[in-house]
Amino acid sequence: MIRKVKGTRDILPPESRLWNAVEGTALRIFSGFGYDEIRLPLIEPTELFVRSVGEGTDIVSKEMYTFPDRKGRSLTLRPEGTAGVARAFIENGLGQRPQPLRLCYLGPMFRYEKMQRGRYRQFAQIGIEILGAAGPAADIEVIAALHTFLVELGFHDLVIVLNNLGDPEDRERFIAGLKAELRPHRDRLCADCQRRWDANPLRILDCKVPGCRKLVADTTPVAEAASDEARRHVTAVETGLASLEIPVRWAPRLVRGLDYYLRTVFEVVSPQLGEDTVICGGGRYDRLIADLGGSSVPSVGFAIGEDRLVEVLPTSFRDRALCRPEVAVLPVGEAAVPAATRLVRDLVLAGATVHTEVTGRSLKAGLKWASKLGAAVAVILGEEELATGVAVVRDLTRGEQETMPVESVVAAVTDRLCTRG
Ligand code: HAM
Repeated sequence: MIRKVKGTRDILPPESRLWNAVEGTALRIFSGFGYDEIRLPLIEPTELFVRSVGEGTDIVSKEMYTFPDRKGRSLTLRPEGTAGVARAFIENGLGQRPQPLRLCYLGPMFRYEKMQRGRYRQFAQIGIEILGAAGPAADIEVIAALHTFLVELGFHDLVIVLNNLGDPEDRERFIAGLKAELRPHRDRLCADCQRRWDANPLRILDCKVPGCRKLVADTTPVAEAASDEARRHVTAVETGLASLEIPVRWAPRLVRGLDYYLRTVFEVVSPQLGEDTVICGGGRYDRLIADLGGSSVPSVGFAIGEDRLVEVLPTSFRDRALCRPEVAVLPVGEAAVPAATRLVRDLVLAGATVHTEVTGRSLKAGLKWASKLGAAVAVILGEEELATGVAVVRDLTRGEQETMPVESVVAAVTDRLCTRG
């Protein structure tokens, strides 16, 4: 037997309905906020991620699926979406369009990570980016769009945490200070942090190893190194969110795992999954597009981990997404098949989900099959019914049935389905 690749998943029905419902809601809410979908390649030149996400990050240094193509060019399965958006912005001259440009995307990302609950090697993200907007209003907008989406899914307990990384110049000063504070304890840091010391010292701040956590707990927060301008920016974001009654919590050790961020960074954590399982991450990246060879396009955005989001979906949303009005149509005898097919077509167009019996089961076996599928209603069309132009509509939950003219079936069935669930 051939098995799926480690870290990938089969999303089976009916679970796949949850995914479709989440994605449909995301596209509805984000397009409402003016974010139009961009569809990007899953493979990109490796250099794109090295130069954007950063060489010293875990993603680039150990998690990318990188391979040479047949001509020896180094390609990478995208580990995230922002770099591709920035590349597409430059390559397609999107700076010529009215600014800011609002884009959203969804689809699979790939990271070679250690498998655990909520951590996969192929996972899906839903993200939005606003490109060409420097002021705090853009940060407020993306977080408000995120919050609206989460509330629409029925979440009320998710926590948005926020930090200020300052500008890259502030960060250099901060890192020098951090190293000075940690130097006396350097040999007590974990092996990963020993490597981070030179490669990516900021990441020491969000190491999950308890020993490292304790050591960094007493260091000066990164936000304190921020310039006055960066402080004003993030304070305005905080104030704006407060006036919208969007609860945010300050997270002084939050640094994020990608190098392109500056000023505002934020994450969403679920009390259900714990602080270490982040459902959404984002922030401002004003220099990314210029660093990739474009002009200066200050930008901000986020990406939600869809696998994790689906795992903690509120029951109200789950139930609505999973419970679809379902009908079984049971033609009894060959002669009833054309009339049954016509009826199926009309039911589908009226919004029902129909399962048609096509294997020649007897009426009794057909009804058993329909109940097993979870259909609420069965429509029975036999030769006798055909001759008189009627059909039998049977409520499978109550066990009652009614004979009616075929033309009345669609209305009767949809009526019954709408009152269910
Ligand atoms: P990120 O924090 O690396 O940010 O990923 C965003 C979200 O993707 C995470 O919060 C998490 O929910 C999900 N995720 C990441 N890795 C995995 C995994 N191995 N398995 C399951 N879910 C995962 C970014 O990717 C940035 N591009 C976000 C962004 C957009 N910043 C600005 N714009």
